Amino acid sequence: VNEPLLELDDIQAHVLPGFGHEHQRLLGWRLPDDEPAAAARALLADLAGRATPARRGLADRAARRAVRRGRAERSRLSGRPSTAVAVSARTLRMLGHDDLATIDEAFTVGMSRRSYLRDPPAREWTVGGPGREIDILVVTAGEDLERLAGAAEEVCAVATRAGCELVHDQRARRLPGDVEHFGFRDGISQPVLRGVVDADGTPLVERAPMPVMPDHRAYAGPGDVLVWPGQFLFGLPRQSETDPVRAAPARRAPALARNGSLLVYRKLEQDVPGFLADTGRMAAGLGVDPERLRAELVGRWPDGRPLARSGSSSGAALNHFGYDTAVPDVPDGPCGADADPDGLRCPLAAHIRKVNPRDQETDKGPPSATLTFAILRRGITYGSAGDDERGLLFLCYQTDLVNQFELLAQRWANNPERPRQGLDNGVDLLIGRVRAGTPRRARLLAGEVSTVADWVVPRGGAYLFAPSLSALRVLAAASTGGL
Ligand code: HEM
Repeated sequence: VNEPLLELDDIQAHVLPGFGHEHQRLLGWRLPDDEPAAAARALLADLAGRATPARRGLADRAARRAVRRGRAERSRLSGRPSTAVAVSARTLRMLGHDDLATIDEAFTVGMSRRSYLRDPPAREWTVGGPGREIDILVVTAGEDLERLAGAAEEVCAVATRAGCELVHDQRARRLPGDVEHFGFRDGISQPVLRGVVDADGTPLVERAPMPVMPDHRAYAGPGDVLVWPGQFLFGLPRQSETDPVRAAPARRAPALARNGSLLVYRKLEQDVPGFLADTGRMAAGLGVDPERLRAELVGRWPDGRPLARSGSSSGAALNHFGYDTAVPDVPDGPCGADADPDGLRCPLAAHIRKVNPRDQETDKGPPSATLTFAILRRGITYGSAGDDERGLLFLCYQTDLVNQFELLAQRWANNPERPRQGLDNGVDLLIGRVRAGTPRRARLLAGEVSTVADWVVPRGGAYLFAPSLSALRVLAAASTGGL
């Protein structure tokens, strides 16, 4: 299969490969009522020079990995902060790019109008509420807090001079061991992008052939599912819905969208004491160990081992499993694991099973279709145990908000009878939202549990578009015609 060239100097590093830095600071700007287009251009002209390209993101990541594995000194890390930029549909309209502003129906109307997500009313949001919608989001990230503060100050100076108002200022920090606040390791399962990075056809991610897997051409290695890059970047081939290996045409979009991506940003506050107390009560009611009950809600143990692989020694094989069919031993690789079609080891309502049913047929069709719903998660934790507030800044990239993020959150996590149709297994108790006043239920291995509490409360956010670096320069340039 001929895979497309990924333009690493044009794609933003936050999309690919993501920021792995320890600290982040997110700055949300609102354009002034007076001459908003001029303000947007002034700020974007500066940001176009700051946004970090994928090539540098990949180099920084390789350096961080080498340090973590003891193969390089810490001083090898560049210490340079990374920056990402995303804009709202309103900003694109102000700049005269209506075609980009209407690239996706959910993006066009904005997150606060997507009532089927069952979020608290937007007037209660602390991010992006009425009159405080984010027009331009800047994500800065780095290892060194002082340099990060310096980079943020520079952005603030330019934005303020341009007349923009700071409507959101959020600090975030990775917790040790990359766990989220409920104590589970996060960021384990991600789609692997198909695509090459040079004229010689070097793939972005090296392939370790596994002829023992029936669909081995769909994997980069054990558990690493390949997905065509058009699911995450405009202008590139997408994933076929019917064949796990083949491509489908790119999503229709203006040429300026090429190498850009749609960003979901949601501030999700986590009530950790509430979660521990509630799950403790549930476990006592069913006579099971609370640790096990919590693992069943996630689908993994705190260290990341998948429940679906219980019984097989796991090692690093955190993604080498299927739900519908067993996976074989991989020579010189991980051992295989039995199937779990009916959720006897990993409940059907477990978070990871709700949002990625993997090889299991769903209400949306065969497993190959599920690949088209994948998202690139770029979330980071905020707050710590001593703070009033803590949780997850959920960020993810895709090219179709309705059929990727919203499908996972609304159609699957919130729905007791999906993705596996016909059986009432309950909602995803971590993120699932139900009609106000009704309890949230899920069927676990030892029986059904239910709660009226929300352990995760959405505090607002935004749907945004992260342009390519070349598109940022075009957006910042003065004349677009129609203005
Ligand atoms: C505070 C809220 C959330 C918490 C605590 C949480 C926690 C986790 C954990 C512990 C994992 C397992 C680690 C991994 O496989 O990478 C995971 C996986 C995942 N989560 Fe979440 N999550 C949250 C919100 C969301 C939301 C809002 C979505 C999207 C609708 C989402 C989508 C996913 C996906 C797609 C996976 C990977 C599943 C797989 O491929 O097996 N999560 N999450």
